[in-house]
Amino acid sequence: MADDKRSSKQRVIIASNRIPLSIDKFDGKYRATPSSGGLVTALRGLSVANYLWLGWPGIEIGETEREEVDATLAKENTAAVYLSDKVAQNHYNGFSNEILWPILHYQSGVHMNFEAWTAYRQVNEVFADRIGEEAKDGDLIWVHDYHLLLLPSMLRERLKSQKKCCPIGFFLHTPFPVDDFWRGLPVQRDLLRGILGSDIIGFHTDEYMKNFIGACKILIGADVMEQSVQYDNHTVQLHKYFVGIDPQKFTEALKDQAVISRVQELESLYKGKTIIIGVDRLDYTKGLPEKFNGFQVFLDEHPEWAEEVVLIQIVIPSREDVARYKDLKEEVSRLAGQIIGKYVSFEELIALYSISDVCLISSHRDGLNLVASEYVACQEKRHGVLVLSEFTGAATFMKGGSLLINPSDARTISDMLHKAFTMGSEERKTNYEELRDLVNTHTRYITIPSGIMRK
Ligand code: G6P
Repeated sequence: MADDKRSSKQRVIIASNRIPLSIDKFDGKYRATPSSGGLVTALRGLSVANYLWLGWPGIEIGETEREEVDATLAKENTAAVYLSDKVAQNHYNGFSNEILWPILHYQSGVHMNFEAWTAYRQVNEVFADRIGEEAKDGDLIWVHDYHLLLLPSMLRERLKSQKKCCPIGFFLHTPFPVDDFWRGLPVQRDLLRGILGSDIIGFHTDEYMKNFIGACKILIGADVMEQSVQYDNHTVQLHKYFVGIDPQKFTEALKDQAVISRVQELESLYKGKTIIIGVDRLDYTKGLPEKFNGFQVFLDEHPEWAEEVVLIQIVIPSREDVARYKDLKEEVSRLAGQIIGKYVSFEELIALYSISDVCLISSHRDGLNLVASEYVACQEKRHGVLVLSEFTGAATFMKGGSLLINPSDARTISDMLHKAFTMGSEERKTNYEELRDLVNTHTRYITIPSGIMRK
């Protein structure tokens, strides 16, 4: 993405499964509400002036009603790729969330579902048709995430036959696993060929990039270099990007009178306590049971802290139509006793971030994890400690200023919590400053190499 609004007139077409606005029906009328989810959060507030963001609006919309929806979405530079509910569910839950998501996050025991695969291909085709119609010569097309792995090569074909020259970028927001996990999937080769239709592919870390290169070499015999893959007479560049947040949004909101009052209320409610905060989507990759186990071990090993420390865990419900997510909800509810805050406003969230002494992130696997950056952005005064799973993409960048844990090792979680609570103010300050500088310098503005922009 161009790093400055003024630097590029080139239009960017963004394609992702979810768009920043979701459509639902209320009192017989369509209404648009802001979408949630890491991808939308990461890309919201783009630094390019000229863009169109295309994706699934969230529900099936009849042909006669599309004009109304198109007009609503157009106000926010977004546009819908219309899908029937059945196809959308098979694509989103059936293939993307039940098959791809667990494989990308190193989960075993995934079963292939060919009906869902058919829907997955179909949806990628619909996106390719829609973008093919929309794209003008010279537009830059930027495809996001595991829901659309086939789209780059489908688009490449269409653009070629339409004689349009539009560079295609792809960004994967999840990990890319080692080849043994990926090859368990019967359609792995089709998916690799699909992604390789791009001109450039972005990953969060070197590790994900290396794993992808390994899969291309072993599974489809591509010619690979350290940062590029050659396949089918076409060279694809690979890059690593740190996807940042907009730290100013957090620091400014902390000056808001409503937030200041809420911080005061919370500080008096938890007076004298040491607070750990956790903010996670309710997902089995986030290691919530392990977090509670680690906390339990900490309390067993350091009973003198039992009255002193409070763990506040915010859980954001997610993908509730998928069986594994339902099971996890029950398990977490049982372990936590109660889940605080089914829905927490932005103001409440940053007030909680700012009063917390420790942020605990225990994901088994996590593409990046934006909570780590958000917590740091709210810690100017307190210099809280980040206790971070070594299996997050964020750990690659933030390991210097944080305490790393293996979420499966409750003892280490306990030790690191103890270390965090007893850390001297100088060390906290030094760690915080290192993290703050990273968060402030690697903001949401992503730069795409200029060679690609000119293609
Ligand atoms: C998380 C993942 C992203 C993914 C997004 C989808 O944020 O890190 O890789 O695109 O979920 O969220 P959704 O709510 O649409 O399933």
